[in-house]
Amino acid sequence: MSTPARNHFVVGGAGFIGSHLADRLVERGDFVTVFDNFSVGREEFLAKAKESGRLTIVRGDALDLDLLKEAAKGHDVVFHLAANPEARWGLERTRLDLEQGTIATYNVLEAMRVNGVPQIVFSSSGTVYGNTAQPCGEMDLGHLPISLYGASKFAGEALLAAYAECFGLRAFICRFGNVVGPRGTHGAILDFCKKLKAHPDHLDVLGNGTQSKPYLHVEDCAAGLIFVLDHAPDAINVYNLAPPDATSVKRIAELCVAASPSPKARIDYGQTPQGWPGDVPVSRVKPEKLAALGFRVRHTSDQAVELAVRAVAHEVFGAAK
Ligand SMILES: NC(=O)c1ccc[n+]([C@@H]2O[C@H](COP(=O)([O-])OP(=O)(O)OC[C@H]3O[C@@H](n4cnc5c(N)ncnc54)[C@H](O)[C@@H]3O)[C@@H](O)[C@H]2O)c1
Repeated sequence: MSTPARNHFVVGGAGFIGSHLADRLVERGDFVTVFDNFSVGREEFLAKAKESGRLTIVRGDALDLDLLKEAAKGHDVVFHLAANPEARWGLERTRLDLEQGTIATYNVLEAMRVNGVPQIVFSSSGTVYGNTAQPCGEMDLGHLPISLYGASKFAGEALLAAYAECFGLRAFICRFGNVVGPRGTHGAILDFCKKLKAHPDHLDVLGNGTQSKPYLHVEDCAAGLIFVLDHAPDAINVYNLAPPDATSVKRIAELCVAASPSPKARIDYGQTPQGWPGDVPVSRVKPEKLAALGFRVRHTSDQAVELAVRAVAHEVFGAAK
């Protein structure tokens, strides 16, 4: 027997990950309301989901609590994906992650509480593990975040846990690796391709290229979020969502140059292992807990990066996929 269609409220659903998630949710017959201020998200990302007739778009800001309360009414699940898109912007605007991360998350939880929406899926990040190269399981939180972005994700997770305990919500927290794929709105691959488009003869890389992190394909990310919602058993659920391996920035730079119209472009690396203050140069996560629940990502980190470079190069240069 098929499960009845659900009404999902996707905050930040017009963005990179949110639009892929919306595609999947409507594909399985569910209804989706995307709530987005379109600061980064694009209506064209939702073109496919719109064709289903099961997508509603609400233009609004998660900092507008009254609007959020009104729009969240009548939904079964909230996916909260809105956030400051670039971790390093916190260096220039120190309130950004407090507002777009912590306060926006509080508003989403309040809108759920007053409307009795029972479940929230939260897009957290491996940045909560701080600066450690050790592979981290979900309980390895001893190092604490080192960016304002990571701090706001950590605070968001804590708010979810508190709302779950105090008001009876169920919380599904997924800590992503670096997510890559088509419709990317930020991140190293898009940065490199845009730089190469502007200056085809060379590519400046932040950091010395030895940074290495797990890269998660956006299709695996969207599938994993839905899987966790469907299968995680507890009131407060925390899962890493990333491949166990990693890819270096040097490899990403080389792939982007090779996919660009000037494959002989010079690559100029910085001097430091860190791309910017707050960047975690080497990170690894353990995926075993999610594997034990029954979900494994389909792409390794290297495969995810290769596919993403092809897709993003196509979007930026119009090159063959
Ligand atoms: N992409 C990654 O590598 C990655 C890694 C770890 C965690 N995450 C988290 O996953 C989530 C989605 O990331 P993404 O890559 O799709 O980013 P994105 O910027 O493409 O999507 C975020 C969406 O939220 C919207 N938004 C931002 N602030 C808003 C606000 N105040 N009110 C309403 N809408 C708002 C934007 O317009 C955008 O459509 C974010 O929370 C991000 O921190 C992403």
